Amino acid sequence: MENKQTRRKFLTAVSMLAAGTMVEASPLNFAFMGRKLKVVLVGTGIRGITFWGKRLVDTYSDTLEFVGLCDVNPGRLAFAKDYMGVKCSTCSNFDQMVQQNQPDLVIVTTTDSTHHEYIIRGLELGCDVLTEKPMTTDEDKCQQIIDAERKYNNKVIVGFNYRWIPYNTKIKELLREETIGKITSVDFNWYLNTYHGASYFRRWHGLRQTGGTLWVHKATHHFDLLNWWLDSDPMEVFAYGDLEHYGSANTFRGNNCRDCKHVDNCDFHWDITQSKMDMNLYVKNEKHDGYVRDNCLYREEINIYDKMSSQIKYANGTVVNYSLTTYSPFEGWRIAFNGTKGRIEAWHDIPYRKENPLSQEELHALEMTQNLKEVEGYKPMILHHLWKDHETVQVPMERGGHGGGDKRLHEKIFKLPNTQDPFDRAAGVRDGAMSILIGIGARKSIESGRPIKIAELTDLEPREKRL
Ligand SMILES: NC(=O)c1ccc[n+]([C@@H]2O[C@H](COP(=O)([O-])OP(=O)(O)OC[C@H]3O[C@@H](n4cnc5c(N)ncnc54)[C@H](O)[C@@H]3O)[C@@H](O)[C@H]2O)c1
Repeated sequence: MENKQTRRKFLTAVSMLAAGTMVEASPLNFAFMGRKLKVVLVGTGIRGITFWGKRLVDTYSDTLEFVGLCDVNPGRLAFAKDYMGVKCSTCSNFDQMVQQNQPDLVIVTTTDSTHHEYIIRGLELGCDVLTEKPMTTDEDKCQQIIDAERKYNNKVIVGFNYRWIPYNTKIKELLREETIGKITSVDFNWYLNTYHGASYFRRWHGLRQTGGTLWVHKATHHFDLLNWWLDSDPMEVFAYGDLEHYGSANTFRGNNCRDCKHVDNCDFHWDITQSKMDMNLYVKNEKHDGYVRDNCLYREEINIYDKMSSQIKYANGTVVNYSLTTYSPFEGWRIAFNGTKGRIEAWHDIPYRKENPLSQEELHALEMTQNLKEVEGYKPMILHHLWKDHETVQVPMERGGHGGGDKRLHEKIFKLPNTQDPFDRAAGVRDGAMSILIGIGARKSIESGRPIKIAELTDLEPREKRL
């Protein structure tokens, strides 16, 4: 009885969290629950064991406990348990793990195309679910998740950490206050450098059937930001895309970087043996499932795009030009919002602006780490009202853990779910769906040569205003 009640309180909290609503008395206040939150994690890869694993153990062990870990690779599973420093059971059978341990929350960090299996089964088995982005990779799986959440009395949170980066929150604040009036159009360009961009082509992200292409795997972050910033749903997308740099576009290829005969003439050669973590997590466990982490990024089987460009029309009339590049000499992004009363220009890590002195390799390494120094200076954006001089808005910046977004997302979910968030940063199934549907629509547009209506893809109707 106690178990059912405390469980119900947690579920209520998560449902409100996912809907972005205020919770008066927090069931995620664990003293109130009377016991720790019981958590299982499925997918013990790098994101699972670090951000959703060891970081939760290190930071929130007084309020939550891992009661089970699950993965299809037994070697990675054993390493995960050791690395996270937990004593819970490990299992390759998800149903068995959930039935034996009766968790409150399932965290899904498997490869993208398998998220739906665990989201839906977790809901069916009476748990709430927190899934990594992208929520899933195609419209049919997306509809199945929407239906499952409607059917079962449990909720899904999508871990959109980019909303929690202070710089991005500042943009939301300025737009919400209509500082530049009604937004009519947006130019948004995202540049992945030859470290980060290339990394997607070395493993499962390079296959459309597992990562949904970068239109979904990566751009889900960007489309979610757009949807949230504009506070409207996407209505239609038209896109172009090609594979011109990686995959079959190159003249030579090897097996993987470790046994490649092109080491001397390949700019992308990567020595995985220098990384203890990658050796322990991936190379030592290749024998179980054949998952090669340092695959050749020129292999023929790569079937995703490395150059992407689209136009998106929103239900509130805003039009967006968006592009994603995967082999830029630098990593960063630029956005400009045109409004009826002015313009906002924001950007991140454009090297010519000389706001940071780090190399591209250092930037990539920092981006992937957690718990670094708090504030590392200020990041500007330009606010320009019509007929006036521009002003510069300075926002405190952080480097590690996706610009400080990772840790803020954790605080909201595991520490402060009962505080009202004026920026509506918590994301649920509808947010997860709307962000991937733009990318799925973009893929379909490239294949068909026509604009795709978002309403064609699932039974969700785009709304002029999101909430
Ligand atoms: N929000 C972010 O900024 C961010 C950053 C990195 C990764 N991610 C997301 O986290 C997820 C994991 O990414 P990663 O880099 O850790 O990948 P990874 O390859 O390191 O880990 C994936 C794990 O899932 C396991 N797996 C694969 N299929 C499975 C199945 N059917 N059942 C159970 N386990 C299965 C693999 O064995 C592997 O251990 C992805 O969805 C990715 O998009 C998000």
